[in-house]
Amino acid sequence: MPPPNTELDLERIRSEFPALASGFVYLDNAGGSMVLRRVADRVRDYLLSSSVQLGAGYSHSQDASAKVLQARKAVAELINAPFDDEVVMGGSTTALMFQLGHAIAPGIRPGDEIIVTNTDHEANIGAWSRFQQAGAVLRFWNVNPQTLELDLADLQNLLSDRVKWVAMTHASNILGTVNPVVEAAALVHAAGARLCVDAVAYAPHRLVDVVASGADVVVFSFYKVFGPHCAVLWGRRELLLGLASLNHYFISAQTIPYKLQPGNLNYELAFGCIGIGDYLVDVGKGLGAAGSRRRQMQAAFDAFEVHENRLANRLLDYLASKVAVRVIGRRNADDGRRVPTVSFVVEGQQSESIVSHVDQFGIGIRFGDFYAKRLIDSLGLERYGGVVRVSAAHYNTPGEVDQLISHLDEVIV
Ligand SMILES: Cc1ncc(COP(=O)(O)O)c(C=O)c1O
Repeated sequence: MPPPNTELDLERIRSEFPALASGFVYLDNAGGSMVLRRVADRVRDYLLSSSVQLGAGYSHSQDASAKVLQARKAVAELINAPFDDEVVMGGSTTALMFQLGHAIAPGIRPGDEIIVTNTDHEANIGAWSRFQQAGAVLRFWNVNPQTLELDLADLQNLLSDRVKWVAMTHASNILGTVNPVVEAAALVHAAGARLCVDAVAYAPHRLVDVVASGADVVVFSFYKVFGPHCAVLWGRRELLLGLASLNHYFISAQTIPYKLQPGNLNYELAFGCIGIGDYLVDVGKGLGAAGSRRRQMQAAFDAFEVHENRLANRLLDYLASKVAVRVIGRRNADDGRRVPTVSFVVEGQQSESIVSHVDQFGIGIRFGDFYAKRLIDSLGLERYGGVVRVSAAHYNTPGEVDQLISHLDEVIV
């Protein structure tokens, strides 16, 4: 069997995302991706045919219950969760992180240490920082300001038997860097601690594999991965079973994921998420991938990576040709260590002025701290008003990047 092709049929890909037909050049994908037609169709179908309470004996309720279980199964498959009941769904990554924090809190003791990074979105810092109220100590694993990398040696120096949790991002939503999660997990576990990984900026660009990641918790949002506004938190079964319940007193602490989903999940949005995996499988099949559905999904992401690296390099090469530009992140996308989220500042210019120039031409990019405020502040980038961020997805075209470059070139000397 020859290996699958890695050349995407962009016309076919783009036809799956109705919003792309408008011609608007959308390069703010790290803010939120376009939504698949098949996801929206499923949400609509659920609302119009299955919107009844779950768990009753009548046939509509049985059908709705089956659909929600099917959704959980599909999400488990998408992330390679060993057990379906490890899949906790909720409104957003931020909300799920606060939920997790509440469930962990009773186990936190004064003097316990938590390590967070200064490259994370605040969603994976704020919930942990609340433990300081219970006497826990928050320690920062800071990015190396020269290389902009999170060095594993620095993590190792912070680890001790007092550390209970380490929280890190799989890919930075500003730097675009893919962090060494597998290696970090090994260090964290050797110290007897747990690892929580924010995969929000990673999941649109690489196939999530919670087992291979080595993490204990992985969380991301579907609205960044071609789906609706809801999110998943995966946790190892024994870990989830040991957490405090967030649900009513009469819901057993053995009932996962329900004990961590107070008020339950959003049924129609969860049902919509089934369309994400199906889309990836279809893309993989179209590329000639054989084998399991996960292998087909992997083939899709392999092709996304090849295409996205081309898009990122096109922009990065242009930015490298401009003396006033400083790219905040890795300078090329050839080694698998970067997603196509490219941030930069221009000496002598406010980031806002560049973005508002580009706005006029029907091109969506943005500027700011993107809630990774600690990173922006620690790198002294607030004086530019934050970074200009261009974030591509697999459905963007080289022509779109060229359009952006031509308008950037009108304002960058
Ligand atoms: C890396 C990262 N983590 C977490 C979040 C927060 O996700 P949500 O909006 O689902 O709370 C974002 C949102 O932009 C993000 O980029």
